[in-house]
Amino acid sequence: MLSTVFSAGLSGIDGYIVSVEVDGYPAIPDFHLVGLPDSSVKEAGERIRSACFNSGYRFPELALTVNLAPADRRKEGTSFDVPMLLGILRTEGALRRDADLSCRVFTGELSLTGSLRGVRGALCMCAAARDAGFREFYAPACNAGEAAAVEGITVFAVDSVRQLIDHLNGTCLMAPFRGEPAEPAPMSPGPDFADVRGQGAARRAMEIAAAGGHNVLLIGPPGTGKSMLAGRMASILPPMTFDEAIETTKIHSVAGTLPQNVSLMRQRPFRAPHHTMSAASLVGGGSNPVPGEISLAHNGVLFLDELPEFPRQVIDTLRQPLEDRKVTITRALGRITYPCSFTLVAAMNPCRCGYFGHPEKKCTCSPAEINRYISKISGPLLDRIDIEVELPSLSYDELVSDGSAAESSAVIRGRVVAAREFMTERLRRESEKGVPLAGVRCNAQLDCAAVRRTCVPTAGAELLLRAAYERLGLSARGYDRILRLARTVADLDGSEMIEEAHIAQAVGLRSLDRKYWPH
Ligand SMILES: Nc1ncnc2c1ncn2[C@@H]1O[C@H](COP(=O)(O)OP(=O)(O)O)[C@@H](O)[C@H]1O
Ligand SMILES: [Mg+2]
Repeated sequence: MLSTVFSAGLSGIDGYIVSVEVDGYPAIPDFHLVGLPDSSVKEAGERIRSACFNSGYRFPELALTVNLAPADRRKEGTSFDVPMLLGILRTEGALRRDADLSCRVFTGELSLTGSLRGVRGALCMCAAARDAGFREFYAPACNAGEAAAVEGITVFAVDSVRQLIDHLNGTCLMAPFRGEPAEPAPMSPGPDFADVRGQGAARRAMEIAAAGGHNVLLIGPPGTGKSMLAGRMASILPPMTFDEAIETTKIHSVAGTLPQNVSLMRQRPFRAPHHTMSAASLVGGGSNPVPGEISLAHNGVLFLDELPEFPRQVIDTLRQPLEDRKVTITRALGRITYPCSFTLVAAMNPCRCGYFGHPEKKCTCSPAEINRYISKISGPLLDRIDIEVELPSLSYDELVSDGSAAESSAVIRGRVVAAREFMTERLRRESEKGVPLAGVRCNAQLDCAAVRRTCVPTAGAELLLRAAYERLGLSARGYDRILRLARTVADLDGSEMIEEAHIAQAVGLRSLDRKYWPH
């Protein structure tokens, strides 16, 4: 007796349908698994046997062959436990042979007691099931929330094998899972910009970075508020669009980092990996690959505090993903790609002791030490950072001020959201005019051709830009960067035109090169 049950596998953040075929014939009882399973799938036999007994079913005394098709793709993880057991119980008869499984997809790991444990990537699998025309998706209860983010398919939250068999046999039907209403979650009251004293230039730089999605580097002596400002970046970012939310949630679903009962991540991720982190955890990889921090930060912020403390080769692995906004991991059997479109916020002291260039304190580093420290940040990485801003030491008056002058995150976020809307509308008009802008969501993502076509300064602004280009000895990349930044400054201003003031501010946001990286 052959039975087929549908399940889903994962490739990167995309699911694909897997047919689990179970055949049993009278011979010495055996369990044989084929279809490119890795070791975690191969262990399923023992779990399935125990879960079967402990749920009160007889395990068939047959020679069983289980095939996971398509047989040319490597199957990983424990999510095939449930469909395999269903197939086996069907050959046994415990699952009625006339139960219709053709429009249903099953996933879940089994515990020895017969309850279901969570799996990685349920959201992606459910989306694949929907796209392939299936009508029902059965997930472990703890993954039902994320699966329910997919529209157009009914999700069932399964606790145990017994409950699932009773439902499929029609003896005790389960109700479909009802997700939480799809309203945006309120912004959680986290740290606020109102707590930051002084640092007007850096605050403005963070606002521009948030509005245009520009990468930013904060430089300054210790205790001036670099970590403080960076940690508040999430509080001024615009909300994610639905498509962005789905993409980001998919990555967290695959990585297994979704909080339980969260169906859709509404807030942009803010990831702050420590400098002791390995390159593999930062960009993703490993023998059973999972997305790294750069992908977990997709559509949000990656914050690297004390940037020069990161090993050079770890910093350098960021270059390609920063450029491509995706990362490809090569492995024995093909490659997988994870998206990683994030805004980089990095902070650093100007030297190891922290006081190079300080007006009062004396720097104790030798020129060679300063050079070594600063040169950890390579030219190619700097090239990908649009904004550099210096945070001076606070004056006593600034520090003890009552802070009533400091704007709150809500006020800044209001301006950021308005600028993003202005930008989105403008980008939409540009692409209607025939400028190809596929996938561009903010100014930071404009490539050089798109910059030339969409960021056109007025005649006066052009003159200023020419003067800056010649005086600062800019490269073509530097020229594009200033136009991109000026475009965001103009968007914050609600201005269609790029005027002198916008160019002037953009030039100011990249003027530290000559102080710290004079080449
Ligand atoms: N601009 C600031 N406004 C208010 N408090 C500040 C400011 N800068 C630093 N502080 C205080 O000093 C502490 C350390 O600041 P931090 O942001 O970690 O400095 P950095 O990262 O520049 O070394 C903060 O927790 C805060 O209490
Ligand atoms: Mg710090």
